[in-house]
Amino acid sequence: MKLTGRHFLTLKDFTPEEITYLLDLAAELKRKKKEGAPTLLCQGKNIALIFEKTSTRTRCSFEVAARDLGMGVTYLDPSGSQIGKKESIADTARVLGRIYDGIEYRGFGQEIVEELARYAGVPVWNGLTNEYHPTQILADMLTIRENFGSLKGIKLVYMGDARYNMGNSLMVGCSKMGMDFVACAPEKYFPDKGLVSQCREYAKASGGSVSLTTDVEEGTKGADVVYTDVWVSMGEPDAVWEERIRELSPYRVTSQVMENAGEKAIFLHCLPAFHDLKTKIGKEIGIRFGINEMEVTSQVFESPRSKVFDEAENRMHTIKAVMAATLAE
Ligand code: CP
Ligand code: NVA
Repeated sequence: MKLTGRHFLTLKDFTPEEITYLLDLAAELKRKKKEGAPTLLCQGKNIALIFEKTSTRTRCSFEVAARDLGMGVTYLDPSGSQIGKKESIADTARVLGRIYDGIEYRGFGQEIVEELARYAGVPVWNGLTNEYHPTQILADMLTIRENFGSLKGIKLVYMGDARYNMGNSLMVGCSKMGMDFVACAPEKYFPDKGLVSQCREYAKASGGSVSLTTDVEEGTKGADVVYTDVWVSMGEPDAVWEERIRELSPYRVTSQVMENAGEKAIFLHCLPAFHDLKTKIGKEIGIRFGINEMEVTSQVFESPRSKVFDEAENRMHTIKAVMAATLAE
């Protein structure tokens, strides 16, 4: 399998075999890290990380993974560069492409990371856009494999705003890998119809399925994985909170939902999560709307079924695999 020189912008661009290869490589790199074995596969290279939105997991994963692979890293924060304000994406791409061996981008529209990739001349990795979050999906899949042994036939239910980056990307990833993907949300939060049709084509080839339902009991029955994400994503206006809380509260992941899913079901969340009032925004919103938790209850989040911290750790191992594979000589 050779992925040298490839961009990593969305899983739509990757075959099931290529995705499996990246997951196998991530598992191997994880094992080596635990054993303390060196993995200096990209020694002497340098990468740039562009973050137009904030991050904990993605930034730390890229930085640590790069160092473990023997690379130097430059972090460009949301205000610390000329990008967009004084210099276009195309010009930035051509400058950074002369200096670095790879570029990570987190920001707004998918078209921005695509433009960066078109001009950079080096691999570009999507660290989250409004539409897709592909490195997150690899971490989710590695976590699912660690819990169930394989991906084929696994039923994953996504609860909440299924038309944004996480819902879209999970639908693409699951349908490519022979999984049964369910978006469980009010109709207005269903993913884009065109993307649903495309994913149903992937599912036809892989033996998976894609379904959409507004019914929580039916949607989560027999699920292996119950997944959710914040109800308001980065970059969205504060004004949408009221509507989201009203419309998505019936789709909160509660103990009842997990019981309905069944004994073997695990809970995943890309994080950060609003499961209590211990954050600035969580507290403000909690007080404003008289609620203590949003997309998931603390009871589920803190339960043994919750694998969210394994999932967060796996961000680093899977991002390392993406960089090692695309930068390999
Ligand atoms: N899941 C995720 O992308 O987390 P960060 O926003 O902290 O990078
Ligand atoms: N949907 C979330 C994902 C965060 C990892 C956001 O875009 O803010």
